[in-house]
Amino acid sequence: MNLVNKTQEGLLSDPTPFVEYLTLELKEDKYKAETVFDILDEFLKISKSIGQKDTTALMTVTIGFSFKGWTSLFPNEPIPNELHPFIEMKYADRHFPSTPGDIFLMVKSMRMDLNYQASKYILSTFKPIANPIQDIQGYKYLDNRDLIDFVDGTENPKSIERAKAVIIDSEPYIGGSYLIVQQYIDKQEKWDSQTTEYQEGVIGRTKVDDIEIADDKKMPYAHNVKSKVEIDGVEIKMLRQNRAFGNAMEHGTMFIGFAKAASIMETSLKQMIEPGEKGHHDKLLDFVTAKTGTLYFIPPQNFLDKISN
Ligand code: HEM
Repeated sequence: MNLVNKTQEGLLSDPTPFVEYLTLELKEDKYKAETVFDILDEFLKISKSIGQKDTTALMTVTIGFSFKGWTSLFPNEPIPNELHPFIEMKYADRHFPSTPGDIFLMVKSMRMDLNYQASKYILSTFKPIANPIQDIQGYKYLDNRDLIDFVDGTENPKSIERAKAVIIDSEPYIGGSYLIVQQYIDKQEKWDSQTTEYQEGVIGRTKVDDIEIADDKKMPYAHNVKSKVEIDGVEIKMLRQNRAFGNAMEHGTMFIGFAKAASIMETSLKQMIEPGEKGHHDKLLDFVTAKTGTLYFIPPQNFLDKISN
């Protein structure tokens, strides 16, 4: 079976230079099925027609629903196995809050202006049922760096490995995926006052050339040690489509993590925030603050097509 044909296009493609992330909150807990179907139909048409204005811009719009969003909009459809409200985590002075969001849209392309136009029409399409609560414009910084100046995304799985890591391969939602979104604000001054050698220890890679530090030289608190998920010695990958956002005053990283099971990303977060057996949390968390946290289900494309017809 060709899983890729069943997925939303933006799920597997690389991050583009510009992206707009829209978080919507529903106005009510229940809606008439026809209203929801009409809105989704309109949404799909808009995404298609704006993308067509410049096909070289490679625009995709990816849509996801949180537990509350899913159960309010699709009460008669099975609840995806691992869909639940985002699990808040706290340890010492570190915190991953769980924040509102019923529908999430990732509008990505080579052009900020097209993203803006699509976002504007999408918000007005959803207006009868949902209000925007966050609209973040992300961008590619230098050679795919976060604003802490390290290259992000290098260890992402590629081609077939990517599809295997991200796409659900069992019924009832073959082709779907899970997404965790967290907005992180950088403590830039604190970060900039560290030596490059220390920063490299925190990330577990070199800064200029983005080379992985050898395992026996890596710090036990390195981000690439603490975030890596292994089961019985086998690494379980996720796909990160992170992008920088913000300006010189306030900025950071939108963490956009996809995986075929929400629990893969939840394990990563737990390992990062907790000291674990070796007594070290992920030191990257001393330099960033998580402002939001929400789990979404990314339905397969054929689910959206079926429902909007
Ligand atoms: C402010 C937030 C974050 C920043 C700035 C950040 C940055 C980075 C950087 C620079 C790398 C190394 C290059 C790469 O392989 O991509 C990396 C790797 C990674 N990050 Fe993050 N990250 C953040 C949050 C997270 C979160 C919340 C998770 C998990 C839920 C996560 C999971 C991973 C994983 C799995 C890797 C690859 C590790 C490996 O296999 O080497 N990151 N991140």
